[in-house]
Amino acid sequence: MHEAVAHIRNVTVREPRIAVVLGSGLGAFADELVDPIAIPYSEIPGWPVSTAAGHSGRLVFGKLHNLDVAVMAGRAHLYEGYTPAQVTMGVRVFHHLGVRSVIFTNAAGGINLSYRQGALVLISDHINLQGSHPLIGPNDDSAGPRFPDMSEAYSRAYRALAHQVAHQLNIQLEEGVYAALTGPSYETPAEIHYLRTIGADLVGMSTVPEVIVANYLGMHVLAISCVTNMAAGILPQKIDHEEVLETGRQVRDTLIRFLKALLPKL
Ligand code: HPA
Repeated sequence: MHEAVAHIRNVTVREPRIAVVLGSGLGAFADELVDPIAIPYSEIPGWPVSTAAGHSGRLVFGKLHNLDVAVMAGRAHLYEGYTPAQVTMGVRVFHHLGVRSVIFTNAAGGINLSYRQGALVLISDHINLQGSHPLIGPNDDSAGPRFPDMSEAYSRAYRALAHQVAHQLNIQLEEGVYAALTGPSYETPAEIHYLRTIGADLVGMSTVPEVIVANYLGMHVLAISCVTNMAAGILPQKIDHEEVLETGRQVRDTLIRFLKALLPKL
């Protein structure tokens, strides 16, 4: 990780306090930054290069109305074979660079029957069903606690601000619990029934390891899911990655408008 930080520091001395992580089909926000400095992941030592379609794979530093922002366009997933440590490396690097607030975005399946394809949902809490945890192993007590509290993993204050901004912009914003599985297969209808029963509103294959590490490091977290499809068994149709990407593209402009208004308020 230190080599990655050193490489980035060689390219830019910018010190954003806030970072955005963009999920499948949601990479367009990076193009909104003014004075951008883009670093392809492949040039950063040790950085996991995302192989999933729809993940463009670059770190972008830029400005949004005078606010310094870092953007991770594309992320690594457990289903690609990366370890929890690799999947969360970006968050650790951000923390080293001085980032203290992270907004995560992702594509998710909608489990809550009141959601519609294309809905934006603020994550209020999560259920980790990935069978792994990014903090397993010896703990560096100077970095964070051995047993981190997760009772408010998604900042209540940030969620309140996000609802205010959404209301002002006339954007419908739901709130729900995100269940993380590893994938790469989509779920079975029986699994979705189970997930709904245990209290999940959304299902996806990312975000949770990163949110755990961000909390561990004392960072403030906001996370937004785009419901790219209703989860398996809800509609009489198959789930297809192309559809997931296409829905991401359709909500792109709304998400960009929302993030641009929200970031300066955090
Ligand atoms: N399940 C899991 N992950 C997803 C889905 C889904 O239905 N849609 C987008 N990411």
